[in-house]
Amino acid sequence: MKSRASAPAKAILFGEHAVVYGKPAIAAAVDRRVTVTLGDSSENRVTIPSLGVDFRSESSPRGGILDYVGKTLKLYHDGSPLSIQIEMEIPVGSGLGSSAALTVALIGALDEYHGRESEPEDTAARAHRVELEVQGAASPLDTTVSTYGGLVYLDSQRNVEKVNARLHDLVIAHLDHSGDTAEMVAGVAELRSRFPDVMDGIMDAVEMITMRAYRALMSNSPEPIGDLMNINQGLLDAMGVSTGELSMMVYEARSAGAAGSKITGAGGGGSIIAYCPGCAEDVAEALNRNWNAMKARFSEEGLIR
Ligand code: MEV
Repeated sequence: MKSRASAPAKAILFGEHAVVYGKPAIAAAVDRRVTVTLGDSSENRVTIPSLGVDFRSESSPRGGILDYVGKTLKLYHDGSPLSIQIEMEIPVGSGLGSSAALTVALIGALDEYHGRESEPEDTAARAHRVELEVQGAASPLDTTVSTYGGLVYLDSQRNVEKVNARLHDLVIAHLDHSGDTAEMVAGVAELRSRFPDVMDGIMDAVEMITMRAYRALMSNSPEPIGDLMNINQGLLDAMGVSTGELSMMVYEARSAGAAGSKITGAGGGGSIIAYCPGCAEDVAEALNRNWNAMKARFSEEGLIR
């Protein structure tokens, strides 16, 4: 018996961190995928060629992305031996949701393997449970986008709306080191526990930015998107999740002509995203001098099984 499923990376356009406090967010699926292939086996074996991982699960070292594999198997598999092959096109820890994409793809492959039907809502909820248990705190945003694909607006009631809008000319650049999402989320929580009034004001401002951006996208008038990204970046900096190097990338993108640029994801390392109407090539080239940059292509496809 064999099964296979894949799920896309994501880039958050607006609202990371604030989304953990119930605020809305906008994110898009990016056409870099994690593919999981499951097969019968006489032993539990996990192979991730791109990360040089090949081990029998019983003797597995744990940590990082492997914790998501372990937790997903524990919750949604019956314990029978499996060979698990994972192909990753997403740099791990890049802020592009590699753990969410892996979790969603693994759940999809397990459902296929066990002959289970599952609605996207249920898949996303189960993947969110894995992220919560591994990370301690997580919003449903990453797992929702990896499951549904497309451009997703998550409102403050946690309703998922696939936004039928296009946003071209986006560039993503990533560092080769990541921030730890759980640590970054905990850092913001710590700041909020010391300055609740200040931090709540910042989260409210991010909410207004996200809603302005949502309205701009819905009316197909993306002019304010760049400025809104820049304001959102200032507030992410205030939350303590930017770093000197991320700020350099953000400003490099703006110097090369980007209308707006900001961290995407948890920060502390990982990636930035820049909105570059008419100048995506120039911005990607400028960022590529010191970092890894690519023009972002969105994926309409979420989980494929
Ligand atoms: C991480 O990709 C996004 C955060 O908002 C955390 C979360 O939503 O769980 C930082």
